[in-house]
Amino acid sequence: MKIQQNLLFFLEMETVRICVFLLLFLSQTWAETDELQMVDMKQDVGRDNSKCNITVNFWAELKELRDMVITSKSKIEKLEEEKSELLSRMTTNENKDAQLDAEVEELKKQIAESPKVAFSVGLTDAGQIGPFNTDITLKFSRVLTNFGQAYNTHAGVFTAPLRGVYYFRFTGFSLKFNHWFGVILYHNDKSVSWNGDYNDDVGNASISNGFALELEKGDVVYLVLPSSYVIYDSSSNRTAFSGFLIFPL
Ligand SMILES: *[C@@H]1O[C@H](CO)[C@@H](O)[C@H](O)[C@H]1NC(C)=O
Ligand SMILES: *[C@@H]1O[C@H](CO)[C@@H](O)[C@H](O)[C@H]1NC(C)=O
Ligand SMILES: *[C@@H]1O[C@H](CO)[C@@H](O)[C@H](O)[C@H]1NC(C)=O
Repeated sequence: MKIQQNLLFFLEMETVRICVFLLLFLSQTWAETDELQMVDMKQDVGRDNSKCNITVNFWAELKELRDMVITSKSKIEKLEEEKSELLSRMTTNENKDAQLDAEVEELKKQIAESPKVAFSVGLTDAGQIGPFNTDITLKFSRVLTNFGQAYNTHAGVFTAPLRGVYYFRFTGFSLKFNHWFGVILYHNDKSVSWNGDYNDDVGNASISNGFALELEKGDVVYLVLPSSYVIYDSSSNRTAFSGFLIFPL
């Protein structure tokens, strides 16, 4: 921007310089011609040749001047063109700057206003849960994060605060123990994924899975312990449930 302004200033100065130069040149030339004519009148009265010669000089100079004016005129026109081109480029740049500023402000606003939904919860300190003779909703009680408070620890249910695509993942753990263990992921009353295994008393075992789900506002997502199954957790958070909004729809 500064360079463009300097260039514009330079172009203005150049135009002025050419005009001043022309004026000076013109006045000097006219003065010289007058002088010559005066001398000629006084000293060479009757000498037609000299007079004629001066007249020839006068016309030659006039022609030279005319050529000069034409050259200067085209030079000034070229400078004016460059000047207006620079001016229009400056305006374009200013418009672009203003547009960028507006876009940055809009993005800042969108980020500030975007809903923040994310949770990670551990199941329990209680050790083994189950087996029960009916399916139960697992209530993850150890809160690591719960932005937007969309996961309800009392009900064990995540409720979508807005329509969007969300990502959920979970890990279920089982201690060395002769039992079936696992969880079912539910979206409303529909199961999304059944994850179970038999822990055959050889060692600890775990299951895990993750899904991107399209949820309407108010949809619920939760983990269920199937009847006769077990799941284990201690303070180590080995059975955990996480979810977050990827983008609203
Ligand atoms: C006419 O002018 C030219 C150039 O100024 C000069 O060389 C020449 O001697 C002049 N002739 C006469 C007759 O004054
Ligand atoms: C199984 O998990 C328990 C609890 O985290 C741990 O104390 C034990 O060392 C683990 N056993 C094996 C074989 O990994
Ligand atoms: C499990 O999560 C709780 C809750 O944030 C935390 O206090 C605890 O340190 C975690 N346990 C381990 C072993 O990291």
